[in-house]
Amino acid sequence: MAGNDEPQELISFRSGPLRGTASVPGDKSVSHRALILGALSVGRTGIQGLLESQDVLNTERAMQAFGARIVRDEDGHRVVHGVGTGAFAEPADVIDCGNSGTGVRLIMGAAATQPIAVTYTGDPSLRSRPMERVTGPLRLFGARAYGRSGGRLPLTLIGARNPVPVSFESPVPSAQVKSAVLLAGLNTPGISRVLEPVPTRDHTERLLRSFGAEVATANTNGGQVISVTGHAELTGCEVVVPRDPSSAAFPVCAALVTEGSDVRIPGVSRNPTRNGLYVTLLEMGACLEFSGERETGGEPVADLRVRFSELKGVDVPAERAPSMIDEYPVLAAVAACADGRTTLRGIGELRVKECDRIDATARGLEANGISVDETGDSLVIHGRGTAGVPGGGIVGTRLDHRIAMAFLCLGLASRDGIAIDDGRVIDTSFPGFVPLMRGLGARLETSDARA
Ligand code: S3P
Repeated sequence: MAGNDEPQELISFRSGPLRGTASVPGDKSVSHRALILGALSVGRTGIQGLLESQDVLNTERAMQAFGARIVRDEDGHRVVHGVGTGAFAEPADVIDCGNSGTGVRLIMGAAATQPIAVTYTGDPSLRSRPMERVTGPLRLFGARAYGRSGGRLPLTLIGARNPVPVSFESPVPSAQVKSAVLLAGLNTPGISRVLEPVPTRDHTERLLRSFGAEVATANTNGGQVISVTGHAELTGCEVVVPRDPSSAAFPVCAALVTEGSDVRIPGVSRNPTRNGLYVTLLEMGACLEFSGERETGGEPVADLRVRFSELKGVDVPAERAPSMIDEYPVLAAVAACADGRTTLRGIGELRVKECDRIDATARGLEANGISVDETGDSLVIHGRGTAGVPGGGIVGTRLDHRIAMAFLCLGLASRDGIAIDDGRVIDTSFPGFVPLMRGLGARLETSDARA
C-alpha cells in the first residue's frame, strides 16, 4: 500500500472461521529503542526481527542522520555501528519522524544532552500532538526547545552543552516521557531519575541494562522511581526483537469474534507491562491459552492459541490503561460483539494519540449500529451479543493505523461489512496485516477490487 498517493478504501466482510498461524512482526517499541541505543553505543549492535514499518524506518533514517552506520541484510536483520553516548553529529536536515510519537519523543530525549541543534517534524497527525510533556523535562537538563504553539512540531531542540541531572515526576503515565528522560540522562553527569505514578512499559530499562547502563527501579509510596547513572559508556550488543503484542491484538481479537476460529500466534511478547488486553479478554470469557513461556533477548515471550468465544461485557479499571494503552480501539471492537455493556475508564490519554481515539472509536462504532456513551475520559460500549453487529458504515481512520485495523477486525463479525476510508496507514505499524489476515481466512477487499 505504501507509495500510493490516493486513499485506499478497504472493506472487511463477514468471514468464515479464521484458522492457521499468525506470525506477527517485531515489536515497535523495542525496534525504535534498539536502533536508538545501538546508535548511542560504541561498537556493533545486531538487531534480529526489527519491525520494518514506516515508523521504525523513520527512526532508522534519523539515526543515520546522527552519524550511525546501519547495514541491512537480506533477511532484514540490522547491524548498527554506533557513534557512542554524547557523539551524535548534528543532522544536515530536518528529522522527519512521520507518524511516530515514540520515534520523535525518544530521539529528542537522546539528542537533548548533546550540543547540537535539531529540527523535528512529522505528518499532520504528529504535528498536532503535544510535545511539551517531553520538552518540559528536557529543558530541566538545560536543553532549549522552540516549537509552534502548544509545543507542537515543527520544533527545534538545542541540546544542553553542560547538562545537569534531573529528577522528574511525570504528570502523565507515559513510557515515552520516561524514556526521553532516561535517554537524556545517559550523557549527563550524576544520576537522573523519573518517578512514574503507574508503571508503564519497561523496554527502555531492559534494553539499557543489556547495553551496559546502570539502571535501578525502586518502589515508593508515590509509585516507581527509575534512575540512570549518567556518562554511561554503552556497548553494542545483540537484540532479538519479540513479536509485537499490540499487533498480535488484531488477529487475536478477530479470532475471538469470528465464529469457529482457532488461531495460533507464536513467540509473542508477554512483557507484564503490556498484558492489559489479555487480562481484560480473559475476564470477558475469552479462550486464550499460553504455552512455551520463555525469554528472548531479555523479554518474556510465549506461544498463544486463541479460539472463538462467547464474550460478556466488563468494567475495565483506569489503573489498567498504561498496560493496554494501544489496544483500546480493538478492545472496543470486541466489546461491540460481547453480551452487555463494557466500560473503559480513565482513558483520557487516548485523546492525544495518532488521533483522538475515543472520538474516532465512538464515531466508528455508531456508524456501524453500535451505541456508545462517551465522556472526557471514558467510553461505554453497548455490546450487541447475539443480536449481532449490523455494520454497513464507513469509518474515518484519521491517519491512525490502529483505528484502521480495529474496524477491519470488527467487519469480519458484522452482518453488512465495514469499510475504512484509508488502509495505507496500516503500514505505520503492521506491514503485511492484510495478507496475514487473508491467509487466516478473512475477507478483506479493496474498493477497486469490487468496482
Ligand atoms: C510507547 C508508549 C505509549 C504507546 C505508544 C508506544 C512506547 O505511548 O501508546 O504506541 O514505545 O514508549 P505513551 O508513552 O505516550 O503512553
